[in-house]
Amino acid sequence: MQMKDGFSAVRAEALLREWTQSASLVKHGLAVARCTESYGTREAERCGMNGEEALRLAEFYRCAGLLHDFDYERHPTPEEHPFVGVKFLREQGWPEEMLHAILAHAEYSGVTPETHLDKALYASDELAGFLTACALVKPSRTIVDVEVTGVVKKMKDKAFARAVKREDILRGAELLGIPLQEHIGNCLHAMQQHAEELGL
Ligand SMILES: [Fe+2]
Repeated sequence: MQMKDGFSAVRAEALLREWTQSASLVKHGLAVARCTESYGTREAERCGMNGEEALRLAEFYRCAGLLHDFDYERHPTPEEHPFVGVKFLREQGWPEEMLHAILAHAEYSGVTPETHLDKALYASDELAGFLTACALVKPSRTIVDVEVTGVVKKMKDKAFARAVKREDILRGAELLGIPLQEHIGNCLHAMQQHAEELGL
């Protein structure tokens, strides 16, 4: 498949699904992608882009989200993830800027989040998982019933969704240079808009 500018969300999602059997890991990729996409839309606005150019930037950000863990199921160790995936993507001609973001989302990679895309991906990864957990404890089990204040409260409840590192969520907002509540609101809204796709 020929990809314009070396990227395509259709291709990214196909790769995620091809490499991942776990339904929850696929959903994680989709959820992170909707969060990063929303930051791409914001960045496009900030840069004064519109039309096709703005849509392409949002798609670029979405691809980084779709692909950040696409190799995780096949190569889950810190020796291989996300390095194997990045090597594969590089051979396929995906843009270096996207690969940098994928490397930077794994703290142990030695690559630190520098660009806005790097930061948006880092910031969306752990939060998307936490928002999913917040949705699943609602009686309706839907993300539309989740509110920012409830998310903040749950972040303080150490027994809730223990595996999610609160400090990563806080660091994400800090990297993006926005208040925590705003970051939660941005990602929550992005996931709510795509609730059906995310099965939430
Ligand atoms: Fe992830």
